Amino acid sequence: MLSPGIVTVSYIAATILFILALGGLSHQETARRGNWYGITGMAIALLATVFGKVTDNYALLVGALVIGGSIGLFLARRVQMTQMPELVAILHSLVGLAAVAVGFATFMDHTIEYFGVEKTIHDIEIYVGILIGAVTFSGSVIAFGKLSGRIGGKPLLLPARHWLNLGLLLAAIWFGREFVLQSADGTGMTPLIVMTIIALLFGIHMVMAIGGADMPVVVSMLNSYSGWAASATGFMLSNDLLIVTGALVGSSGAILSYIMCRAMNRKFLNVIAGGFGTGGGTGAAASDGEQGEIVAIEAAETAALLANAKEVMIVPGYGMAVAQAQHTVYEITKALRAKNVNVRFGIHPVAGRMPGHMNVLLAEAKVPYDIVFEMDEVNEDFPDIDISVVIGANDIVNPSAQEVPDSPIAGMPVLEVWKGNTTIVLKRSMATGYAGVQNPLFFKENTRMLFGDAKDSLDAVLKAL
Ligand code: TAP
Repeated sequence: MLSPGIVTVSYIAATILFILALGGLSHQETARRGNWYGITGMAIALLATVFGKVTDNYALLVGALVIGGSIGLFLARRVQMTQMPELVAILHSLVGLAAVAVGFATFMDHTIEYFGVEKTIHDIEIYVGILIGAVTFSGSVIAFGKLSGRIGGKPLLLPARHWLNLGLLLAAIWFGREFVLQSADGTGMTPLIVMTIIALLFGIHMVMAIGGADMPVVVSMLNSYSGWAASATGFMLSNDLLIVTGALVGSSGAILSYIMCRAMNRKFLNVIAGGFGTGGGTGAAASDGEQGEIVAIEAAETAALLANAKEVMIVPGYGMAVAQAQHTVYEITKALRAKNVNVRFGIHPVAGRMPGHMNVLLAEAKVPYDIVFEMDEVNEDFPDIDISVVIGANDIVNPSAQEVPDSPIAGMPVLEVWKGNTTIVLKRSMATGYAGVQNPLFFKENTRMLFGDAKDSLDAVLKAL
């Protein structure tokens, strides 16, 4: 049994390690170290809680840890890199569910009795905790459905949906008042249950109304919510570390949502209010008409063009992750650099299916960080690029974001590959990307399509090189 003093010191140490972890994770070079800080902080936090806070029922605790830990380990080992966003979404839902469960348990537990103002504060903590938890839970389940393709990407736009949201919010506030009043008399379960149902419906409605193209913001927003849900749980359990950790997750998720919105040129409130990012709006139809001709290219010709180029820009997207082509990409990069070709990578902030998706894959393949650039750093350089190689990317290189005002992705900054000399696009078919919008890039005069699985195509290019 640890003394309360040791628990407090351990919690402070864990908090500092979590802050260092977040700092580390903001740069590729320090990300690995950041992860270790986080793992160490979490280990300290767990040990201090298990040996300092929990006083009995160890069998139950160990049983739950073994069952939960085994399921987590099994799922994490099985999950493909391309399924990570779904996994993250479903994990967020569990944080929300835990907050709801802890809220009801705390309400029903009368081991400690609160009186007066303290009771009111405790009741509000329970109410807000369950509210945030329920929204996070149902919203994350819907996000999981959308990201895994089980639910369509098209936003559900109910008539008067903003009024519906406002009505649900006002109802939640009214039931909150009822709950606090009734709880003072020893009841209150009914308003608590009604609010939970309202919050669940609100979470479903909120994420259903968000279109496919805006899902990156939803993922980071739910990440933020899960942090606030954990923080609320901390208040209910009077656990300072959980409050602080939840707040760190909540605020970093909010900052990430802001960055995502900026990357997609969206206003956060517009995304949350829903209706953007429709899967194939009128804009897509308008640009579908005069698409022009497609010119295909073979691997050998691609290799010849690359070998004769001076400036090459590689733009990876979700398809590179699907094909797991990152290692071959790096082999080709090395071969070209040996021929004095200047090869750079241009990374769009929402390429792939999760923040930093492409950076993680390229780091895994050991691509040096100093040739990997963010979109803003290279977008002006395209007129000087001889060959741009678009590997399994679609929406992030779609000129209709700039040219078609009513396109579902209108206004989203994109990598302007078409301004270069020649663009080679690697994909399997003419299928659209995540946002469901046709891409006029494929029909441009200076575009060549290299059809096939990206890994197979690149293996052939490497062989020819
Ligand atoms: P997408 O627009 O989804 O395009 C990916 C392309 O890769 C598809 O057109 C597909 O065409 C091709 N592809 C798939 N498998 C392939 C394979 N094995 N070999 C070769 N090509 C393959 O991807 P993007 O350009 O990276 O844009 C990301 C999109 O996802 C954006 O709309 C973004 O908003 C959204 N999104 C992003 C995130 C985050 S946080 N990054 C989260 C959720 C959603 P074929 O089927 O013809 O091969």
